[in-house]
Amino acid sequence: MTEPATDAHRYSPGLEGVIAGETALSFIDGEAGRLLYRGYPIGELVKSGSYAAVAELLWTGEWHADAQLPCLSVSPAVLTALRALPRSAKPMDALRTAVAIWGAENNPSWPATADQARALTASSPSALAAFARIRQGLEPIAPDPSLDLVAGFLYQITGVAPDEESARALDAYFIVGAEHGFNASTFTCRVITSTRADIASAVGGAIGAMKGPLHGGAPSEVVEQIHEVGTPEHAEAWVREAIDNKTRLMGFGHRVYRAYDPRAAALREVAESMTRRPDWLELAIAVEDTALRVLAEKYPDRPLKTNVEFYAAPVLMGVGLTPDLFPATFALARHAGWTAHAIEQGGANRLIRPDVIYTGPAERHLPSA
Ligand code: ACO
Repeated sequence: MTEPATDAHRYSPGLEGVIAGETALSFIDGEAGRLLYRGYPIGELVKSGSYAAVAELLWTGEWHADAQLPCLSVSPAVLTALRALPRSAKPMDALRTAVAIWGAENNPSWPATADQARALTASSPSALAAFARIRQGLEPIAPDPSLDLVAGFLYQITGVAPDEESARALDAYFIVGAEHGFNASTFTCRVITSTRADIASAVGGAIGAMKGPLHGGAPSEVVEQIHEVGTPEHAEAWVREAIDNKTRLMGFGHRVYRAYDPRAAALREVAESMTRRPDWLELAIAVEDTALRVLAEKYPDRPLKTNVEFYAAPVLMGVGLTPDLFPATFALARHAGWTAHAIEQGGANRLIRPDVIYTGPAERHLPSA
């Protein structure tokens, strides 16, 4: 039992500022708004890389610009399970279910390997796409091995190979979503891996952690909030009322970034360059300007800037995904990072088991004792 009086100074709610591990996968400079994957700036990776190359970089540490990662088909057991789910099931729950079955069928050994990471990362888009069709009463579509993972995911949802612009835009989204240090879902993944549990258990747990609106659920709520605002003229009043009512503005604020999230900057560029960007993008930009100004006024000591989720919303809508698929699509992108962390944790493992401050009653005794 740890006494509060002696250890309270070591406690940081939400583990804010606590160093909980080491990683060579990504570097985040929250003050300067910089993000590097194994040393490479995120903006460069978006401009010149692909999700397959970035995933390989995370898994192996090597840069292969021509890396390929087509989607893999899912097993009959996964399809049976997806068909058995209620059509109203959340796509995140369907994805977690598919990952659990993948684990049960493949029984991956510990420590995790790059081959396991490739196989799981390439299977999950097919499972999510299958569920997206099954819930509409449509038959799943087998993956096309000639398409890379991102184009193959869109193809398996729609039955049509995506145009270059959509494939490129979603690829950019997958690159910025691939990895981000010790965020809640990745930390969950590492905790699970540290018990010597397999990669599917770790990714399944990570999906659960990402389901919450404070982590992965924000972009769909961004769309709702932008629609609530309605017009640029209404932005000021809406933002002020929301902040006064303690409503969180989705797509703003971050535990680590105090500067503009570099992923948001990259995705804003992508969104603005899309010919099929949603018609509310201009409104979103106006809302962003107002929100940044009002947040700075209300929280002068805690910079709250735009985060990745704000511009993820128009990119994901622009490629034709419905908002309820956004969190699970984010989870697909983060597979690269989660599985890379599972490999890294397994390579230098120590069971993650922090202390806790006990706040219950002092020792006492039952009446009969
Ligand atoms: N809108 C309004 N106020 C905010 C916001 C926001 N988006 N973010 C923080 N604040 C306020 C809080 O209400 C709090 O105010 P208070 O001190 O008066 O209570 C203050 O800023 C500090 O907030 P914390 O909760 O301490 O900040 P924390 O670092 O824990 O939160 C988080 C980070 C969860 C991302 C938060 O900014 C948030 O809820 N944002 C909206 C949800 C969102 O966009 N999530 C996606 C994050 S990116 C990702 O996960 C990939």
